[in-house]
Amino acid sequence: MASKMELHYNRSLMNNSPNDPLFFSKPANSLKDDKKTYGKILFNLKKNKEQDNTDELTHLTDSFEFESAKNSYWNPPKFSLLYGTPLWDESSPSQKIILNQLYWVAYYSQIISAEIATIFLNQTAAAGLYGMEDFKVVCDTLDLESAQERTHIQAFKVIAEQTEKSLFGQRIFTYPMKNFASETMIFQNTNLIKSYWKKIQLHFFSYLSSSNAFIASQYLTVRGLRTLNGKIVQHQLSQFYTGLEEAPIPSKVSHHHFLDESYHFNSSTIIGHDVVKSLRPPTSFEKMIANLAVTGCQKDHAQFNVSVNGIFWYEPAIFSSIFKVLKSTHFSMTTRDALEMMRRCFCQENQGVHEAMQTHIVARKSYIEYVQGLEFLNQTNLKMSVMENVDVLSYLLENKRKLSHFSNRQVA
Ligand SMILES: [Fe+2]
Ligand SMILES: [Fe+2]
Repeated sequence: MASKMELHYNRSLMNNSPNDPLFFSKPANSLKDDKKTYGKILFNLKKNKEQDNTDELTHLTDSFEFESAKNSYWNPPKFSLLYGTPLWDESSPSQKIILNQLYWVAYYSQIISAEIATIFLNQTAAAGLYGMEDFKVVCDTLDLESAQERTHIQAFKVIAEQTEKSLFGQRIFTYPMKNFASETMIFQNTNLIKSYWKKIQLHFFSYLSSSNAFIASQYLTVRGLRTLNGKIVQHQLSQFYTGLEEAPIPSKVSHHHFLDESYHFNSSTIIGHDVVKSLRPPTSFEKMIANLAVTGCQKDHAQFNVSVNGIFWYEPAIFSSIFKVLKSTHFSMTTRDALEMMRRCFCQENQGVHEAMQTHIVARKSYIEYVQGLEFLNQTNLKMSVMENVDVLSYLLENKRKLSHFSNRQVA
């Protein structure tokens, strides 16, 4: 006679046996149910693997020597530090080269910060999505992208640090490696309390996304918005390389990075917009978290600055970096001259200010288009209203107020 334990074992086998009619019943929320989306994500992963720029970027990073690249532009001229301001207009040809290279250093220092956060949040999102049927391909995509981001960070870091060390012997825009939960925007309107609160929010979001497929999928909408901002500039940085016979290594890095990022942008859109339809409809709580995440992205991108047009930093937070550049041997300004130049660049209308504002308008419009069709987003996010509250006059007034404090500290 079979023991109680054997009976229980046989029964549980029967319940999981292929003869059990329930065994092959259609699982809920399988990604394979949406053949078109499944095919798209599979295709994007296959293509990204085929074109993967990791080896090329590693080779470029290892070969970089500032001495060999120091006499050339690394970006199109309009992508130079403080382009279109009195500083740019009055700089010598060799100073313009430095401003152009410093744009690269500053721009990609920001990308490093964003990609440090991306690596961790890709993994928590993958954990949240892996609990769903047939989501392996989505998680494999995120795994590959995280590995690519590590190579991107290494390339930007090596080139940016070597450049600052050679030109200034000190850090200007770069920083030592940092935790994922620190401020993503490195020059931000923040303080200790705001920074700490942001850290708590990021930890909480990553915790939620690691066990909730909907929230995980909407991390990819936020990532898509951030990458969209990057695409506006990086596409043009990337094209600079293709127009040159003997391109300097940083321009080649811009090009190869952009190639990888195009696939990251595709996967953000497929997961945030299409894969989400394979999930059950979100609860009120899940909608609230997704909306908070998009609003957080809007807040991060609510300002514009003329120092690095295309990255939405808070200008007064960059004052001390610009001051160091102007006082360095490359510009040799006295404290008084440097502060006067900053007043003319940051507190008076000039071509650079209007162009930076224009980039912000273009970005906001493209964000609005990007989130159309995401019905769970509220009007503040669908219309990107947080990003709307910015204009040239308030930018100039804020700079004037903050530059006066900054100047007092320098001459004290
Ligand atoms: Fe990247
Ligand atoms: Fe990326």
